[in-house]
Amino acid sequence: LFESFQVNSYRGFYSVKFAPWFCTLKESLVGGDVVVLDKNIAELYPVIAELNNPIILISPSEAAKTYGSIGETMEEVMSLGFSKNNKLIAVGGGITQDITAFAASVIMRGVSWHFYPTNLLSQCDSCIGSKTSVNLGKYKNQLGGFYPPDMVCIDTSFCKTLQPRDFASGLGEMMHYFLIDGSMSLEDLEGMIDEVGKNSATLDELIWKSLHIKKKMVELDEFDQGPRNIFNYGHTFGHALEATTDFQVAHGIAVAYGMDLANFLSVEFGFLQKEVRNGANGIFRKIWSDTVLPEIDNKVYMDALVRDKKSIKGFIQPILTRGIGQMFQAKLRLNSRLMNAINKYFEQRLYEKKI
Ligand SMILES: NC(=O)c1ccc[n+]([C@@H]2O[C@H](COP(=O)([O-])OP(=O)(O)OC[C@H]3O[C@@H](n4cnc5c(N)ncnc54)[C@H](O)[C@@H]3O)[C@@H](O)[C@H]2O)c1
Ligand SMILES: [Zn+2]
Repeated sequence: LFESFQVNSYRGFYSVKFAPWFCTLKESLVGGDVVVLDKNIAELYPVIAELNNPIILISPSEAAKTYGSIGETMEEVMSLGFSKNNKLIAVGGGITQDITAFAASVIMRGVSWHFYPTNLLSQCDSCIGSKTSVNLGKYKNQLGGFYPPDMVCIDTSFCKTLQPRDFASGLGEMMHYFLIDGSMSLEDLEGMIDEVGKNSATLDELIWKSLHIKKKMVELDEFDQGPRNIFNYGHTFGHALEATTDFQVAHGIAVAYGMDLANFLSVEFGFLQKEVRNGANGIFRKIWSDTVLPEIDNKVYMDALVRDKKSIKGFIQPILTRGIGQMFQAKLRLNSRLMNAINKYFEQRLYEKKI
C-alpha cells in the first residue's frame, strides 16, 4: 500500500491515507459522530450497518446536493444530538462529499469532517482541494466555499464494484491531470489505460500520482485565484456537455470529450499539431468506448458554454494546449469561426475520427 501524505490548507495539514476503509472508520468514530452514506454503498457493503453510530443515507443525484435537500440533511444531523465536538463522515462519491463538506462548513460555524471516497473520481481528484460546491435549484455548483476535510482514507478495493461508466469517469479525470502534468508520454498513458482495470497496484499508483499533481497546485493556489485554473482543461467544454445532455454523460467522461474538443480547437486555431491531438484522441476513445453520445444541439451547447463561470461578454476562456504539459488559458471570441468549428466537431462526430 502507498504511504499516506499530508496536504497543506488554510485549516492546517490534513492527511490522506491509503488504508482499509472499514477498520479505519470503526476506530475513528466516537459517540455522536454521524456517517453520511451513499445508499448504493450501504447496499453493496452491508458490513457498514455494524457501526454503532447514526447513518444518514443519500441517494446520489444532482437533486440531492441542492441547497434545499442539504437543509433537510442538516436538520437530520442536528436531530441526532450532534455537537460541536463531533464530526461528520462522508462515505461515497463526489455528491456525498459535496453534501457533507458543505454541511460541515456551516453547521455550528464549522465542524470536523472525514472523507472515505468510494469511486475512482473522488479518489483520484475531488477528495483533496477544499472545494464545496452545491446546487441552488437548477444553478449547478453555484453555492459553496473552501472547506477541506480533516482526514481522507482511500481504499481502492471499493473500485471493484463500480459500474464501467463510473470507472471510465474516474479514468477521464485522472487523464486530465496526467496530460496537464506532462511527465508521461501518450504511449505510456495509453498503456496505462489498458493495464489499469486488470491490476489494483497500478490503480493505487495512478491515484497517488494524480493526487500529487493536484496537491502541488492546491497548495499553491487553494482559493483558485490564478494558477489552479489550468485544471479547467476539458472542463469548460465538458460542463457544457453535461448540461446539454441533462447529466447523462458522467463527469469524467464529459471531461474526456471536453479535452478532445479543446485539443481539436487548439489544432483549428494553429496552436497544436494534429498528430498530438490524434494520439490523445486514441486514449480518450478508450475512455468513452461504452458511451453513446446523444445528438448535440449546437445552439443549446453554445448557450451552456456562454453560461460558464469563466466566460465574459463575447468571449469564452477555455484552457487550450500547445502540447502535452503545455496548457494555457485562451480567450476565444464567440464568432462564427468558433461556432462553426464546434458545430462541425459534434455534427460530423469528429471525436470518433482522426483529423
Ligand atoms: N468538490 C469538488 O472538488 C468536486 C470535484 C469534482 C466533482 N465534484 C462533484 O461531484 C459530483 C460527481 O461525482 P461522482 O461522479 O463521484 O458522483 P456520485 O457521488 O453520484 O457517484 C457516481 C456513482 O458512483 C456510485 N458509486 C460510488 N462508489 C461506488 C462503489 N464503490 N461501487 C459502486 N458504485 C459506486 C454512486 O452510488 C453513484 O451512483 C458532481 O456533483 C460534481 O460537481 C465535486
Ligand atoms: Zn472534474
